[in-house]
Amino acid sequence: EEGKFTVCSVGAGYVGSLTSIILAAQQPNLKVIVCDVNQDLINSWSDQRYPFYEPELDRQFDIAVNQNKNIKFTTKITDAIQESDAIFICVNTPPKKDLISGLGKESDMKYFDLACQTIASMGDPKKHRILIEKSTFQIQLNILGTVPVGTHKRIHGILSQKLSNPDDCYTIVSMPEFLAEGVAIQNLLFPDRIVVGTPTDKNGMETFEVIKGIYSNFQTKFIHVKTASSELGKLFANAMLAQRISSINSMSQLCETTGASVQDLSKIVGSDKRIGQYFLNASPAFGGSCFEKDLQSLVYILESLGQTDQAMYWSQVLHMNQFQKRRLLDMIISEFPNPSETVLTIFGFAFKKNTSDTRMTPIAYFVNGLIEKGFFVRIHDPQANERGFYLEMEMQGFDIAERFNFQFCGSDYNKAVANSNAIIIGTEWDEYITTNYRNIRDQMNQSRALFFDLRSIVDEEPLKYLGFEKVFKLGN
Ligand code: NAI
Repeated sequence: EEGKFTVCSVGAGYVGSLTSIILAAQQPNLKVIVCDVNQDLINSWSDQRYPFYEPELDRQFDIAVNQNKNIKFTTKITDAIQESDAIFICVNTPPKKDLISGLGKESDMKYFDLACQTIASMGDPKKHRILIEKSTFQIQLNILGTVPVGTHKRIHGILSQKLSNPDDCYTIVSMPEFLAEGVAIQNLLFPDRIVVGTPTDKNGMETFEVIKGIYSNFQTKFIHVKTASSELGKLFANAMLAQRISSINSMSQLCETTGASVQDLSKIVGSDKRIGQYFLNASPAFGGSCFEKDLQSLVYILESLGQTDQAMYWSQVLHMNQFQKRRLLDMIISEFPNPSETVLTIFGFAFKKNTSDTRMTPIAYFVNGLIEKGFFVRIHDPQANERGFYLEMEMQGFDIAERFNFQFCGSDYNKAVANSNAIIIGTEWDEYITTNYRNIRDQMNQSRALFFDLRSIVDEEPLKYLGFEKVFKLGN
């Protein structure tokens, strides 16, 4: 036990816990500590209850906890830092609330700053540590508003407030996390690349070697670059992924009006090796905790630096995302002349399939828009929970506290579809392809029922046969 190289993650959320569990499972030579200020979350991990849904987590968790026995979860953050040779910062950097209304474009860095202050207080020139930022790059403008500074500079600034010689205590490294929820375990076991951004000096080279050592059992390509490249690279990667979704979404209405099919387009274009098949599915919009935030950041940086045309280019990716939601919401509303006598069922509230995560889910916009119009809205999701539902509606600025015309039904189909006038597929869960729609149609309103597949995952013909008056399939 003693003498083992020890890493700790500050933050036991999606990134902190999953990266740590995989590291502990794959590297029995390491000692791994996961710490968080949230006692409930730590209790949950310690009691082997998963605080969120992620496929294939069980096996890796079992290897780490029961086989290697080299991971622990704790709220004793300073103790964890004290014991560690390398520290991963994996705390949340949520959008500031006014970001959603479009007023501000920065992330809320208060949790991040607080974590850095705790780390600073543990600085010790006698024990040099590696400090690794995994939280998404957040750029800040300096007082003059001309020079953008990256996260590493922000950390350095905070360390300098407490430590006279921060560089003797910590080497700051950027290692952006590329995992995608829903496929996180595979992403972490077999990463496309591990990006390591360090200072360019001798210390930076040595630090890179230590980090390669931490990941010695992983078969992957290491990309060693300077810190600024690593930080900006992550931002650009997310912008590119979001851009692909907006690009395919921008074609969906054209397909609907010309008789083409957007899935055919994805197949045709995605078969081109230069383009690739992933991230080309039409949808009501992209969501999740990173894409919108990172795009906003990119646009904000570009605007602040006077790179206006580039800012306009990337802001169109965001615009398309908003536009698609508005277009589809209006289309649904236009089908029902009497909202107060209409029940609508939304299938899916998670921002994508195979995760319980609802942060920045596009479905919140639909729920709110339909409730405001006076429809009775029922929401079904196999994994998302009621608490997450209310939190996210509030987070996105939708005040539904005074409303009574909705019901969150969790995974209960019967409750969700009873006497309903429409099914709206919002999240592409596999079970929405295979569920027994004959059964569902029987429980729905007998005189009028419509079907809106906003993820293009079901076949229209069998549904029409079951008596759905209209079957809308996005991009078809
Ligand atoms: P999360 O919200 O799931 O977890 C963050 C955790 O940090 C929370 O449990 C919170 O209690 C804890 N925390 C906050 N302040 C703390 C402190 N001072 N000391 C100890 N713990 C503290 O967030 P998530 O999703 O893990 O994201 C973390 C960062 O990684 C964010 O910057 C995010 O943008 C980025 N990221 C997220 C990805 C994702 O798929 N979720 C992928 C890649 C990057």
